[in-house]
Amino acid sequence: MKTYLVTGGAGFIGSNFVLYLLDKYDDIRVVNVDALTYAGNRENLRAVESDPRHIFVQADIRDTAAIEDVLATYDPDYVVNFAAESHVDRSIANPGAFADTNVMGTVSMLNAVRRAWEQEDGTWRAGKRYLQVGTDEVYGSLPLDDPEAFFREDTPLNPHSPYSASKAAADQFVLAYHDTYGMPVVVTRCSNNYGPFQFPEKLIPLMIRNALAHEPLPVYGDGLNVRDWLFVEDHCKAIDRVLEQGRLGQVYNVGGHNERPNIFIVKKIIEECASATNDEAITEELISYVEDRKGHDRRYGIAPDKIRAEIGWEPETAFEDGIVRTIDWYLDNQEWLDHVLSGEYRSYVPAAEQEA
Ligand SMILES: NC(=O)c1ccc[n+]([C@@H]2O[C@H](COP(=O)([O-])OP(=O)(O)OC[C@H]3O[C@@H](n4cnc5c(N)ncnc54)[C@H](O)[C@@H]3O)[C@@H](O)[C@H]2O)c1
Repeated sequence: MKTYLVTGGAGFIGSNFVLYLLDKYDDIRVVNVDALTYAGNRENLRAVESDPRHIFVQADIRDTAAIEDVLATYDPDYVVNFAAESHVDRSIANPGAFADTNVMGTVSMLNAVRRAWEQEDGTWRAGKRYLQVGTDEVYGSLPLDDPEAFFREDTPLNPHSPYSASKAAADQFVLAYHDTYGMPVVVTRCSNNYGPFQFPEKLIPLMIRNALAHEPLPVYGDGLNVRDWLFVEDHCKAIDRVLEQGRLGQVYNVGGHNERPNIFIVKKIIEECASATNDEAITEELISYVEDRKGHDRRYGIAPDKIRAEIGWEPETAFEDGIVRTIDWYLDNQEWLDHVLSGEYRSYVPAAEQEA
């Protein structure tokens, strides 16, 4: 039986990954470590709350002793580090928190894992792997007028926001632990994810929520910034595959061929929400152009050649399908949206733990 230690598994991508693993594999155990910041939501894990293969531990990745304790108790084969501060706007307002969690939190994880996995003679215990979940934002920005330009793994790092700077530093520490100590690591760098359970401060769930509430849809600048949209389930599949097949010490970009300008997405959300709910008040009149984000990168686009060639992964979900599935999920889970925004979820404790 394999044991996975997943950090940040109550957040958007982490919870999708935990659910994906437990659905795909019978004979595994997933230890889910999350500090439950504003972005962590145990309701995302309701479907597995009584599954004995899922063990939730509330802990902070910066707490090296707490992570060492988890490692000693469960002895995971794989560690997947999703835990992070993840919202660019928050990083512009409060960069220090991003250095703390994303950089120092990652270093703390690396130190704890190293103590658990490195042997006295400097070799590493067999079968162990640490995967760092990174972002394509570390590469900076691509021009709009050169559609053939893409991020590749050897594109120089050129982060522009405090968020992407902190993620770049974290990746570099992970790769340095490989080069210096021989630690068995892999790094993935994915493009913008979308799908169920995304906190409604990010573009897609925010626009869906505001459209349904007939509130303004704030669009930065001219709305022409381009992102390469990755359906979260495709991302989960990629991480699973890279864990199994990725070469140690390597970086794999995850995404590709789903580039869309922000304004296109907002209009698509309006169209889908209006037709799904038969609500004539959901129109493009709700769009409100606002002052551009500071240092706003113009375009992100991934060339997934390496992960396709080495691992055989490529995105399966076309944006047109994924966005409809996503909107349908939020329409079916409006209670979740309200709950998450109210902040009440922070006090949510599964029934079994309430009784204990
Ligand atoms: N969402 C995207 O489009 C995207 C794209 C590329 C990369 N990523 C990366 O993927 C990872 C997950 O992103 P997400 O969108 O799911 O983020 P999220 O903000 O939805 O979730 C982050 C989770 O980490 C937890 N967390 C935060 N600080 C912690 C700490 N100190 N200790 C333990 N847990 C902590 C939070 O409680 C939350 O559950 C991040 O590393 C992010 O940088 C995200």
